[in-house]
Amino acid sequence: MNPAIDQLKDLIDKLEAEHVLSGQEFVSLIDGRTSELSECLFEKARRIRQEHYGNDVYLRGLIEFTNYCKNDCYYCGIRKSNGRASRYRLTKDQILSCCEQGYRLGFRTFVLQGGEDGFYRDDVLVEIIRTIKAHFPDCALTLSIGERSYESYRSFYEAGADRYLLRHETADPAHYGKLHPPVLTFEARKKCLMDLKEIGFEVGCGFMVGSPGQTSEHLAKDLIFLHELQPQMVGIGPFIAHHDTPFAAEESGTAELTLFLLGLIRLMLPAVLLPATTALGTIDPLGREKGILAGANVVMPNLSPVEVRDKYMLYDNKICTGDEAAECRGCIDRRISGIGYQIVVDRGDSKQVGGDSRKFDSDSKQADDAAIRNFNR
Ligand code: SAM
Ligand code: FES
Repeated sequence: MNPAIDQLKDLIDKLEAEHVLSGQEFVSLIDGRTSELSECLFEKARRIRQEHYGNDVYLRGLIEFTNYCKNDCYYCGIRKSNGRASRYRLTKDQILSCCEQGYRLGFRTFVLQGGEDGFYRDDVLVEIIRTIKAHFPDCALTLSIGERSYESYRSFYEAGADRYLLRHETADPAHYGKLHPPVLTFEARKKCLMDLKEIGFEVGCGFMVGSPGQTSEHLAKDLIFLHELQPQMVGIGPFIAHHDTPFAAEESGTAELTLFLLGLIRLMLPAVLLPATTALGTIDPLGREKGILAGANVVMPNLSPVEVRDKYMLYDNKICTGDEAAECRGCIDRRISGIGYQIVVDRGDSKQVGGDSRKFDSDSKQADDAAIRNFNR
């Protein structure tokens, strides 16, 4: 037996029991990981996920409603300075028809994601949120539209939005400064996350794995930040270079390290909603399946109109943007059932204690069964 491996396995046991480690302990795990250690971690992560969510995998329908953005994040393909991006915005009616199609396919959570686009003022978004919630009262609505004021966030919550995804990107302020122009700071990002929590949203943060300049120490800080924030959702995926950004020549992150971190996060936050992301499926053709087997329990197929999907190009070779895109729902279903899990028709609220405060008290089993029948047809 390799004694070093034994010590690392002890750290994994400690993480399972105490849900956090010191920065140095996290660094030892990350730097010392082997395939044997990963397997031991994933086995535990699957067991813990099983205790909270069984074999269920939740669906989120991603509607990428604008690729205009006022920001210039160095990693992002739709950054303001990318003059080669072909820009689009969806109207309220287009967004609603994405939801209608999604509802028929069994989606019960819609995620409105976009760049930071001033066209969608607070009143415009409030109207969109109210309309979606009026049409689909049994669905959850997640926003992922970047940094806004406390008052804006509160107006979205009052209009009916349930959840908010805002990745923190990196919890190290100096590293944050290497990924973003000076007007964007970790401090401001953190304040937004605190505001969202205080208002009552189910909150998601997260980070890219293998972003330029990232070290194991940075990742340890990210994990400790998760422990402090106690989010209901965590989105992580590998950094993947985009050819029209300042990071065009940078190396991409790996699926292997992303999977290891997914396993660690499941042990830290046992009931967290943890997606196997599109970026993970892009860097490895079986990335999403491997993500579920490492402890993830959410997938986020694309519900955007097929004509705009190749315009929301955050990084090169993003999957589900070509002619096959209309088949996303069927494809994901086959992939998940192929590894022994099942996609469920459900809002997929967090089972974390003190999670969503306004869960839909659903007696909608009949509607859900009908949706499954409809989909299987
Ligand atoms: N504007 C919103 C925001 O900033 O939160 C939502 C859209 S933003 C494009 C969503 C996420 O995409 C970011 O939080 C970032 O982590 C991820 N992303 C952007 N560029 C990426 C890249 N090159 N590789 C991997 N992920 C990337
Ligand atoms: Fe704004 Fe990427 S720079 S969404």
